[in-house]
Amino acid sequence: MASYVTTPIYYVNDRPHIGHAYTSLAADTLARWWRLCGEDARMLTGTDEHGQKIEQAAEKAGITPQAHADLFAERFQALCPVLDLSNDDFIRTTQPRHQRVVQQIWQRMEAAGDIYLDAYEGWYSVGDEAYFTEQELVDGKAPSGHEVKWVVEPSYFFRLSKYSDWLLEYLQANPEFVRPRSRYNEILRFVEGGLRDISISRTTFSWGVPVPGAEGHVMYVWVDALTNYISALGGPDDALFERYWPNAVHLIGKDILRFHAVYWPCFLKSAGLALPRQIFAHGWWTREGQKMSKSFGNVVDPFEMVEKYGADIFRFFLLREVSFGSDGDFSEAALRSRANGELAKDYGNLLNRAVGMVGRYRAGLVPTAKGPNTELELRLLEVYATARASLEQQMEKLAFNKAISAIWQFVNACNKYIQDVQPWAIAKTDDAARLDTVLYTICEAIRVLGVWTLPFLPQKANELLDRLNVPPALRDFASTAAFGGLVGGQALLTGEALFPQIEAEAEAAATPKAVAQKKGQDKAQSKGAKKKQRPPKAVDDGTVQFDDFKKLELRVARIVAAERHPDADRLLKLTVDAGEPELRTICAGIANAYSPEELVGQTAVLLANLKPRKIRGVLSQGMLLAAGEGAATRLATVPGDLAPGSRIS
Ligand code: MSP
Repeated sequence: MASYVTTPIYYVNDRPHIGHAYTSLAADTLARWWRLCGEDARMLTGTDEHGQKIEQAAEKAGITPQAHADLFAERFQALCPVLDLSNDDFIRTTQPRHQRVVQQIWQRMEAAGDIYLDAYEGWYSVGDEAYFTEQELVDGKAPSGHEVKWVVEPSYFFRLSKYSDWLLEYLQANPEFVRPRSRYNEILRFVEGGLRDISISRTTFSWGVPVPGAEGHVMYVWVDALTNYISALGGPDDALFERYWPNAVHLIGKDILRFHAVYWPCFLKSAGLALPRQIFAHGWWTREGQKMSKSFGNVVDPFEMVEKYGADIFRFFLLREVSFGSDGDFSEAALRSRANGELAKDYGNLLNRAVGMVGRYRAGLVPTAKGPNTELELRLLEVYATARASLEQQMEKLAFNKAISAIWQFVNACNKYIQDVQPWAIAKTDDAARLDTVLYTICEAIRVLGVWTLPFLPQKANELLDRLNVPPALRDFASTAAFGGLVGGQALLTGEALFPQIEAEAEAAATPKAVAQKKGQDKAQSKGAKKKQRPPKAVDDGTVQFDDFKKLELRVARIVAAERHPDADRLLKLTVDAGEPELRTICAGIANAYSPEELVGQTAVLLANLKPRKIRGVLSQGMLLAAGEGAATRLATVPGDLAPGSRIS
């Protein structure tokens, strides 16, 4: 069977955060699971690059929307290998292959008589790229907290109202179409209230797909964005579409449910196309109980988490900690505790124990002989059978955390089996056949666990199977249908622990409360210290302490745009990418040495924590380091393959 899983396409006005990583990891896990079960699975992710939000971000940065989109899309593309995503495609809505299909879908809806010209008058939130009625506003803002603006403009409308009854009936007949159940009920209630026509084109800006045959109109970004799911399959007439569309599953965050579960089915119906099989809306993450936001500076950076803990641990934590569909709370302390407990102590240690015992008692070779099973093996096999069935059922429901629980029932049973059977005691007897049976059972159980965990721990599970010398044919789900697939006779390889224990870091483990306590302690200590110690003699020999140097935040910054300062001949106004959500503007006194054009693309050293200062009317957010004077000034540059934002120390 062919199956298709998609993530939302991400806006290119931000850097990747946990929300993006979460859906992508869930989609990847599902795709890997399907493949493990022998299905032809396809996974899609990508970027949403049009709309007023992106146009405004680019304007603010002083670059073209396309240059802005290219820059940010690169970050989302870079995240794919970091998270070990097995996506088959990465779609960008500025690609011609996408725009062609979007226009085709528009024309199909138009031909169905579902598009008409009128004028839109109402509230619009650029942050959400969504229209709101007066009743939907909360304290004069969109429910998300974004500002709204009153918009009056000519616009094409889509006859959503025409599909009200049809969609209601469809939902009632297909309760699995929207999951989880709470979200299904939410959508059902919304549709029961009746649907109103929606505005689907804009005329007050131009960064979008042009409406065919209607000069000045660009498509509403959601018509454009939703279509990515089929443009990436080559459009309605392509063989890929025919193959994968019937079994399509869209994974999304709960905030974008209405677009997917109300608008999208109606657009498709109007265009004469089948609906995806399912839309699954997951919950949102907070961090240590707090909403994540750029202004709090507490946004979880997936690049940083993977660098610190590895992709498998990050993925495991996100899928294990909460049920897919519910909100969750992210904390590094909780992540470390799962890594040290479930992964290191329970799962990884099983391999260590097997390697140790097979090494000691069987010269490192997995035994082939299998004697009769005792009560202990039979009990283990019972857990194996229930765990396998439950894993399958839970994955069918996308209940990733319950699927992991099912696997861990077997992990725990294996550890208990070793404890109960005591191979070290059997080794002291002369019952070699019994020891063979026991060691074989342990190795086969570990193989089964390795196979089952492949979608959740793609790197480590493969490493585990490599250590057991498991051939490719014994690495799919079918190979675990009956216990006993492992042949034996092969060497069990020794190596590092799969999951070494992670030490708690004082700083990372700190909750706001702990930080407050620590500050208190530091204060108390320094008070005490003052009493006892004499102040050090100040010696001004021109040196600085290392701690003082460390206060300077030097970072790699790529110059993405440059122009002359509007009000100072000596200065250039540069736009730089320092790996942050927004680009920075820097005023640099190097106009005598460089033309703006020759600076674009250079990778320089940015003093990032210099207090921002207005220089002749332009706010300069940092300083680029340079040497020399006047026309001989040379910018201090670093190799271009260093990622923007990398710390220089
Ligand atoms: N471009 C649209 C989607 C178009 S799909 C046809 C969009 N982009 S987004 O970049 O804003 O997407 C963000 C995704 O991240 C959404 O699915 C959203 O639910 C998710 N999250 C954003 N913050 C989140 C958390 N704190 N936690 C979990 N997911 C969150 O919307």
